Amino acid sequence: MSKQDTHFFNVFSLVIGLLVAIAIVLFVFARIVASHTQEAQVLTEPDYSQNVAARIAGPVREAVAGQDNSALAIKVETAAGAGSATPAAMPKNGTELFEQTCSVCHGQGIAGAPKAGDKAAWAPRIAEGKATLYEHALNGFQGKTGVMPPKGGRTDIPDDLVKQAVDHMVQMAQ
Ligand code: HEC
Repeated sequence: MSKQDTHFFNVFSLVIGLLVAIAIVLFVFARIVASHTQEAQVLTEPDYSQNVAARIAGPVREAVAGQDNSALAIKVETAAGAGSATPAAMPKNGTELFEQTCSVCHGQGIAGAPKAGDKAAWAPRIAEGKATLYEHALNGFQGKTGVMPPKGGRTDIPDDLVKQAVDHMVQMAQ
Protein backbone atom coordinates (compact mmCIF):
# COMPACT_ATOMS: atom_id res chain seq x y z
CA MET A 1 0.00 0.00 0.00
CA SER A 2 1.41 3.38 -0.95
CA LYS A 3 1.66 6.18 1.55
CA GLN A 4 -1.06 8.05 -0.30
CA ASP A 5 -3.50 5.14 0.10
CA THR A 6 -2.85 4.94 3.85
CA HIS A 7 -3.56 8.62 4.20
CA PHE A 8 -6.79 8.27 2.26
CA PHE A 9 -7.99 5.42 4.45
CA ASN A 10 -7.24 7.33 7.63
CA VAL A 11 -9.20 10.37 6.48
CA PHE A 12 -12.00 8.23 5.13
CA SER A 13 -12.36 6.27 8.40
CA LEU A 14 -12.35 9.49 10.37
CA VAL A 15 -15.16 10.97 8.24
CA ILE A 16 -17.26 7.81 8.48
CA GLY A 17 -16.71 7.68 12.22
CA LEU A 18 -17.76 11.31 12.59
CA LEU A 19 -20.92 10.74 10.53
CA VAL A 20 -21.89 7.73 12.63
CA ALA A 21 -21.33 9.74 15.78
CA ILE A 22 -23.49 12.59 14.47
CA ALA A 23 -26.22 10.10 13.51
CA ILE A 24 -26.23 8.62 17.01
CA VAL A 25 -26.36 12.06 18.58
CA LEU A 26 -29.31 13.04 16.33
CA PHE A 27 -31.10 9.79 17.15
CA VAL A 28 -30.74 10.26 20.89
CA PHE A 29 -31.76 13.90 20.61
CA ALA A 30 -34.87 12.95 18.59
CA ARG A 31 -35.85 10.35 21.18
CA ILE A 32 -35.52 12.84 23.99
CA VAL A 33 -37.56 15.48 22.17
CA ALA A 34 -40.22 12.91 21.21
CA SER A 35 -40.59 11.64 24.75
CA HIS A 36 -41.46 15.18 25.83
CA THR A 37 -43.83 16.08 23.00
CA GLN A 38 -45.18 13.16 20.98
CA GLU A 39 -47.04 11.07 23.54
CA ALA A 40 -48.17 14.09 25.49
CA GLN A 41 -49.68 15.49 22.31
CA VAL A 42 -51.60 12.29 21.55
CA LEU A 43 -53.08 12.36 25.04
CA THR A 44 -54.46 15.84 24.58
CA GLU A 45 -56.13 15.19 21.22
CA PRO A 46 -59.93 15.56 21.52
CA ASP A 47 -60.61 12.44 19.42
CA TYR A 48 -58.36 10.38 21.63
CA SER A 49 -59.88 11.67 24.86
CA GLN A 50 -63.38 11.03 23.53
CA ASN A 51 -62.50 7.42 22.71
CA VAL A 52 -61.00 6.87 26.13
CA ALA A 53 -64.05 8.41 27.81
CA ALA A 54 -66.34 6.12 25.80
CA ARG A 55 -64.23 3.08 26.63
CA ILE A 56 -64.09 3.63 30.37
CA ALA A 57 -67.72 4.76 30.69
CA GLY A 58 -69.96 2.34 32.57
CA PRO A 59 -72.38 0.21 30.53
CA VAL A 60 -75.32 1.78 32.30
CA ARG A 61 -76.39 5.36 31.76
CA GLU A 62 -78.62 7.18 34.13
CA ALA A 63 -80.92 10.02 33.36
CA VAL A 64 -80.71 12.53 36.17
CA ALA A 65 -83.71 14.72 36.89
CA GLY A 66 -83.07 18.37 36.27
CA GLN A 67 -80.11 17.78 33.96
CA ASP A 68 -79.80 17.68 30.20
CA ASN A 69 -80.32 14.00 29.41
CA SER A 70 -80.76 14.38 25.66
CA ALA A 71 -77.52 12.51 24.97
CA LEU A 72 -79.08 9.41 26.54
CA ALA A 73 -82.16 9.37 24.32
CA ILE A 74 -82.53 6.22 22.26
CA LYS A 75 -82.67 7.09 18.60
CA VAL A 76 -85.61 5.31 16.96
CA GLU A 77 -85.04 4.32 13.36
CA THR A 78 -88.15 4.48 11.23
CA ALA A 79 -88.96 3.54 7.67
CA ALA A 80 -89.33 7.25 6.91
CA GLY A 81 -85.66 7.94 7.47
CA ALA A 82 -82.97 6.17 9.41
CA GLY A 83 -81.73 8.22 12.33
CA SER A 84 -84.70 10.57 12.56
CA ALA A 85 -86.17 10.54 16.03
CA THR A 86 -89.84 10.68 15.01
CA PRO A 87 -91.83 7.58 16.00
CA ALA A 88 -93.45 5.45 13.31
CA ALA A 89 -96.57 7.10 11.94
CA MET A 90 -99.94 5.87 13.16
CA PRO A 91 -101.42 3.65 10.45
CA LYS A 92 -104.89 4.59 9.22
CA ASN A 93 -106.29 1.09 8.89
CA GLY A 94 -105.56 -2.60 9.32
CA THR A 95 -104.01 -2.94 5.89
CA GLU A 96 -101.58 -0.13 6.59
CA LEU A 97 -100.71 -1.56 9.99
CA PHE A 98 -100.08 -4.91 8.35
CA GLU A 99 -97.77 -3.36 5.78
CA GLN A 100 -95.98 -1.21 8.35
CA THR A 101 -95.50 -3.72 11.14
CA CYS A 102 -96.95 -7.20 10.79
CA SER A 103 -95.42 -7.82 7.36
CA VAL A 104 -91.93 -7.57 8.88
CA CYS A 105 -92.50 -11.12 10.13
CA HIS A 106 -95.65 -12.27 8.39
CA GLY A 107 -94.70 -10.98 4.94
CA GLN A 108 -92.05 -13.63 4.34
CA GLY A 109 -92.84 -15.90 7.27
CA ILE A 110 -89.80 -14.90 9.33
CA ALA A 111 -89.01 -16.41 12.76
CA GLY A 112 -91.81 -18.97 12.55
CA ALA A 113 -94.55 -16.46 11.74
CA PRO A 114 -97.28 -17.86 9.49
CA LYS A 115 -96.74 -16.24 6.11
CA ALA A 116 -99.58 -13.96 5.04
CA GLY A 117 -101.50 -15.56 2.17
CA ASP A 118 -100.20 -19.05 2.97
CA LYS A 119 -103.49 -20.97 3.16
CA ALA A 120 -101.95 -24.14 4.65
CA ALA A 121 -100.26 -22.20 7.46
CA TRP A 122 -103.37 -20.18 8.28
CA ALA A 123 -106.16 -22.75 7.93
CA PRO A 124 -105.62 -24.38 11.36
CA ARG A 125 -105.23 -20.97 12.97
CA ILE A 126 -108.38 -19.58 11.35
CA ALA A 127 -110.14 -22.71 12.59
CA GLU A 128 -109.39 -21.61 16.17
CA GLY A 129 -111.79 -18.75 15.61
CA LYS A 130 -111.29 -15.03 15.28
CA ALA A 131 -111.55 -14.44 19.02
CA THR A 132 -108.45 -16.55 19.65
CA LEU A 133 -106.55 -14.88 16.82
CA TYR A 134 -107.45 -11.42 18.16
CA GLU A 135 -106.44 -12.46 21.65
CA HIS A 136 -103.09 -13.81 20.47
CA ALA A 137 -102.38 -10.78 18.29
CA LEU A 138 -103.25 -8.33 21.08
CA ASN A 139 -101.56 -10.00 24.03
CA GLY A 140 -98.83 -11.94 22.33
CA PHE A 141 -98.59 -15.66 22.02
CA GLN A 142 -95.96 -18.38 22.28
CA GLY A 143 -96.89 -21.14 19.88
CA LYS A 144 -95.16 -24.17 18.42
CA THR A 145 -93.29 -22.25 15.72
CA GLY A 146 -92.24 -19.05 17.49
CA VAL A 147 -93.20 -16.04 19.53
CA MET A 148 -95.81 -13.57 18.40
CA PRO A 149 -95.06 -10.32 20.31
CA PRO A 150 -98.07 -8.38 21.70
CA LYS A 151 -99.47 -6.24 18.87
CA GLY A 152 -96.42 -7.19 16.81
CA GLY A 153 -94.36 -4.92 19.06
CA ARG A 154 -96.46 -1.83 18.35
CA THR A 155 -98.10 -1.48 21.73
CA ASP A 156 -99.02 2.10 20.83
CA ILE A 157 -101.62 0.82 18.34
CA PRO A 158 -105.26 0.74 19.47
CA ASP A 159 -106.82 -2.74 19.75
CA ASP A 160 -109.31 -2.12 16.96
CA LEU A 161 -106.57 -1.48 14.44
CA VAL A 162 -104.74 -4.66 15.41
CA LYS A 163 -107.99 -6.60 14.96
CA GLN A 164 -108.35 -5.06 11.50
CA ALA A 165 -104.82 -6.19 10.66
CA VAL A 166 -105.73 -9.71 11.78
CA ASP A 167 -108.84 -9.54 9.57
CA HIS A 168 -106.63 -8.43 6.70
CA MET A 169 -104.26 -11.38 7.13
CA VAL A 170 -107.13 -13.82 7.51
CA GLN A 171 -108.64 -12.44 4.30
CA MET A 172 -105.32 -12.89 2.50
CA ALA A 173 -105.31 -16.57 3.45
CA GLN A 174 -108.80 -17.30 2.22
C1 HEC B 1 -91.56 -10.21 15.41
C2 HEC B 1 -92.30 -10.97 14.44
C3 HEC B 1 -93.80 -10.74 14.34
C4 HEC B 1 -94.48 -9.56 14.10
C5 HEC B 1 -93.90 -8.18 13.88
C6 HEC B 1 -95.87 -9.91 14.06
N1 HEC B 1 -96.04 -11.25 14.29
FE1 HEC B 1 -97.81 -12.24 14.37
N2 HEC B 1 -96.83 -13.98 14.73
C7 HEC B 1 -95.45 -14.13 14.83
C8 HEC B 1 -95.13 -15.51 15.06
C9 HEC B 1 -93.73 -16.09 15.22
C10 HEC B 1 -96.36 -16.22 15.07
C11 HEC B 1 -96.57 -17.70 15.25
C12 HEC B 1 -96.51 -18.16 16.70
C13 HEC B 1 -96.74 -19.63 16.75
O1 HEC B 1 -97.80 -20.10 16.32
O2 HEC B 1 -95.83 -20.32 17.25
C14 HEC B 1 -97.40 -15.22 14.88
C15 HEC B 1 -98.75 -15.52 14.84
C16 HEC B 1 -99.74 -14.59 14.62
C17 HEC B 1 -101.16 -14.90 14.58
C18 HEC B 1 -101.76 -16.28 14.74
C19 HEC B 1 -102.04 -16.55 16.18
C20 HEC B 1 -102.64 -17.94 16.37
O3 HEC B 1 -103.43 -18.06 17.29
O4 HEC B 1 -102.29 -18.85 15.62
C21 HEC B 1 -101.82 -13.74 14.34
C22 HEC B 1 -103.31 -13.54 14.23
C23 HEC B 1 -100.82 -12.70 14.24
N3 HEC B 1 -99.57 -13.26 14.41
C24 HEC B 1 -101.11 -11.39 14.01
C25 HEC B 1 -100.16 -10.38 13.89
C26 HEC B 1 -100.48 -9.00 13.66
C27 HEC B 1 -101.89 -8.43 13.51
C28 HEC B 1 -99.30 -8.33 13.60
C29 HEC B 1 -99.09 -6.83 13.38
C30 HEC B 1 -99.79 -5.93 14.27
C31 HEC B 1 -98.23 -9.29 13.81
N4 HEC B 1 -98.79 -10.53 13.98
C32 HEC B 1 -96.88 -9.00 13.83
C33 HEC B 1 -94.52 -13.13 14.72
C34 HEC B 1 -94.80 -11.79 14.47
